[in-house]
Amino acid sequence: MKMNNCARNKQLKEEIQKLKKDRRAVVLSHYYQRPEIQEVADFVGDSLELSRQAAQTDAEVIVFCGVHFMAESAAILSPDKIVVLPEENAGCPMADMITAIDLQRWKESFPGATVVCYVNTSAEVKAQSDIACTSANAVKVVNALPPAENILFVPDQNLGNYVARQTGRRIHVWEGYCPAHAGLTREEMLAARQEHPGALVLVHPECRPEVVELADRVASTSGILRFARESTAQEFIIGTEAGILYQLSKQCPGKEFYPASPKMICPKMKATTLEKLHRALETCAPRVTVPPDVRERALRSLERMLAII
Ligand code: 13P
Ligand code: SF4
Repeated sequence: MKMNNCARNKQLKEEIQKLKKDRRAVVLSHYYQRPEIQEVADFVGDSLELSRQAAQTDAEVIVFCGVHFMAESAAILSPDKIVVLPEENAGCPMADMITAIDLQRWKESFPGATVVCYVNTSAEVKAQSDIACTSANAVKVVNALPPAENILFVPDQNLGNYVARQTGRRIHVWEGYCPAHAGLTREEMLAARQEHPGALVLVHPECRPEVVELADRVASTSGILRFARESTAQEFIIGTEAGILYQLSKQCPGKEFYPASPKMICPKMKATTLEKLHRALETCAPRVTVPPDVRERALRSLERMLAII
């Protein structure tokens, strides 16, 4: 007899817990993952917290429930560990908007410039950059650079322009964007505000400037969670990927959260399922590795970032 979904998920979750022990594996999940993945993970966090976990863990295997660049960062920071990405096609579309060759050519037009790369980039792009940042520390990273420095920011134009406004620094931005965040329009945000007039508006800096302008608070995923927990407000409109709504409801019981748009879903983040995680733990595959020469140079960008925060 065929098992129903609920019973199948329960069985998968139990087996995943057992496999984690057998493999001496740690399961890391980004806040944008499906709720059932966040439930079985050992650690759920934003890009910055997850890189710290990846650098510190003493597990033998890191199973990364996120997108490819996150698993690559784990492989860069923990070269002696086996790093597994349960869905091998989970690439970040924004990270794919710049290649190492694109960056090399762009740098030639700005000799001597400092390249700040959003962590949402390939290992090769990190290897061509001077320092990495995440949405949680981008302003701090740029503020730590000498004032006269000419700055190139890749690949997210919205985050880069937000950092330029916050720091008053002149920053040349690559024209990449996150489809899940940049798809949110000002009209949608205005409609959400009209529908929930008492709610505070919290948005991620990957959103367009005309949306960011309407926000009560602009923050990374962990910043949005912290703000919602600490605020005395009871209702919030959320301008980031829908996966965070699970954590918001869990961490802030009794408060109400409304997505700014039902379209804010990243299909690549949702590609990891319990079935795929189970298979990944069973087989320790698909593995993510980084060639040693690329790793060595990419590590410098990540370590410079981790030293600042
Ligand atoms: P943060 O976890 O840094 O807020 O990341 C947002 C994001 O788009 C990750 O892909
Ligand atoms: Fe990339 Fe945006 Fe998806 Fe994050 S939410 S993985 S930035 S496409």
